[in-house]
Amino acid sequence: MPNLKSNGQRPVVTIATLQKMKREGEKIASITAYDATFAALVDEAGIDLVLVGDSLGMVVQGHSTTVPVSVNDMVYHSAMVARGLTSAFLVSDLPFLSFTTPELALKNAARLMQEGAAHMVKLEGRQEQLPIVETLASADIPVCAHIGLRPQSIHKFGGYKVQGKGDEAANLLVREARLFEEAGADMLLLECVSSVAASRVKHEVNIPVIGIGAGVDVDGQILVLYDVLGITRGRLPGFAKDYTKGGIRADDAVRAYVEAVKSGAYPAPEHCFA
Ligand code: KIV
Repeated sequence: MPNLKSNGQRPVVTIATLQKMKREGEKIASITAYDATFAALVDEAGIDLVLVGDSLGMVVQGHSTTVPVSVNDMVYHSAMVARGLTSAFLVSDLPFLSFTTPELALKNAARLMQEGAAHMVKLEGRQEQLPIVETLASADIPVCAHIGLRPQSIHKFGGYKVQGKGDEAANLLVREARLFEEAGADMLLLECVSSVAASRVKHEVNIPVIGIGAGVDVDGQILVLYDVLGITRGRLPGFAKDYTKGGIRADDAVRAYVEAVKSGAYPAPEHCFA
């Protein structure tokens, strides 16, 4: 199997490892990667989970949103990343409109796992996607449900706004999280969510909750690699942190990010939303 090998220095991270980390309160340090060289660099730096995100549409392909990314693009980048990894757990995104029916979701998730060597697929979901998650879960395909801000729906959201603010919105987010867990999701990703709502979600579900712009009280953090390396064009998102400040090398910057996630030093209050 492509990724069930270790570099001899640390054990392979599996879904069971991630569940244990949640139970034991060890933070899951996660990052995106899009090619084999960077995959190897972040793996050697001690990253637990690598996401081949459809953010590649923006940071690699130069689009202004993730909407144009295709399943072929995701398979291509996922396979490259898989070849660079030895220990980290590999999650790949189902892109825009690639999971509109259970049949399509199964076909495309199978491609990500068989051709892209992913261990888990991620889909941006709201309640309408619960049957899709049920179908994937019943086929033993590990699923991460991405809730909160969903960039594939940016034209519906009308902008990158913080989600789950206030009691009513937080209650809805918690309800949604529980429903995805019940439908068979193995992990949740919360993007751009108020810290209070994210913390409630973390405590209400038994599956790992990874945050990006979701405060410190979640089971793990994820950032876009190019933000950590300070090479993102344009403005850095408010929750992100450039770890290369002061001339730090790329591998040391990722190591510093891993340490900061593990110790809880990242995200600091200035990276969180009330
Ligand atoms: O596509 C992506 O990189 C993501 C992260 C922003 C979590 O979904």
